[in-house]
Amino acid sequence: MIIQKSANPRISNFDLENFSFGNTFIDHMFICEYEDGKWGEPKIMPYGPIGFSPAMMGVNYGQACFEGMKAYKDENDDVFLFRPEKNFSRINKSTSRLAMPEIPKDIFMEGLKTLIDLDRDWIPKGEGMSLYIRPVIFATEEVLKARISNKYMFAIVATPAKSYYAEPVSVKISDHYSRAANGGVGFAKAAGNYAASFYPTKLANEEGFEQVIWTDDIAHEYFEESGTMNVFVRINDTIYTPKTSDKILDGVTRDSFIKLAEKRGIEVVIGDVRVKDVVEAFDNGTLKEVWGVGTAVVTSVFKSLGYQDRLLTLPVLSDEESFALSLKKDLTDIQTNKAEDPFGWRFKV
Ligand code: COI
Repeated sequence: MIIQKSANPRISNFDLENFSFGNTFIDHMFICEYEDGKWGEPKIMPYGPIGFSPAMMGVNYGQACFEGMKAYKDENDDVFLFRPEKNFSRINKSTSRLAMPEIPKDIFMEGLKTLIDLDRDWIPKGEGMSLYIRPVIFATEEVLKARISNKYMFAIVATPAKSYYAEPVSVKISDHYSRAANGGVGFAKAAGNYAASFYPTKLANEEGFEQVIWTDDIAHEYFEESGTMNVFVRINDTIYTPKTSDKILDGVTRDSFIKLAEKRGIEVVIGDVRVKDVVEAFDNGTLKEVWGVGTAVVTSVFKSLGYQDRLLTLPVLSDEESFALSLKKDLTDIQTNKAEDPFGWRFKV
């Protein structure tokens, strides 16, 4: 791997306590290019723009997908990734569906470890703090024929993160738009899935909701995801979450929540989550919580659900009463090395 260090690192002038998520990047980035059927020499270089043509296939035809993962620093300044193998295998499920080349494991893992180690000073410490890491692959061939690209760039960039959507949010249960369809790319972290979500989210924002609960494209009868997250519903003391499918992302946080809930002895039902059942549970007082989970946000608690012309206001629970918040704590304690790691999820850098 070629390592070209920054001559002007910005970290010394960056306030790791006061920043907003996603707009400042660590001093370096990782890149590796694919051409003529093979990957080239991986490289770490100073973070910055790279020139491309507007005819690049990735921007015209959307062959692009990404991952979201985090690095955490514990009290002793040890640095940990969380379940990076899951992200590695998922990015290749995405590349395969989008007819992009597979990223070899050594390129992904070595690139990641070397980059995070080099820029470990950028990882903020403390409650809710982490470094958000974005591996991304996109088609770079300059040709306007609508076909599979012959050239790609795989890059890793990273940005300091603190919890966002920290306050409980109001979400709209979609009765028109869908995020994904059977046979489509909903399970992949395809860039286009996010592009397609922005307009319905903007409409929901105009109605006063922060996020959309995505429902199926056939009759909007079933919950699928929420915003950029997987979704969980608690009725009495049982948790329900949609089964992963063609349409639903196999979230690392989702899987971790399920395992942590089961470890606490909470019943988790993985299957169809019917909008009607959720509304009925609200009406008979058994709907306790609805929340979203994802790498960036960890957990977003929903305070109300917009359903047709109704607003279903959920009970306010203490941190101890709330499954969403107590499982979030179980998870972040493991991620930040404050608790035992019974599942072997931490990966030391
Ligand atoms: C993540 O949680 O990693 C996501 O993909 C959300 C991101 C679009 C901010």
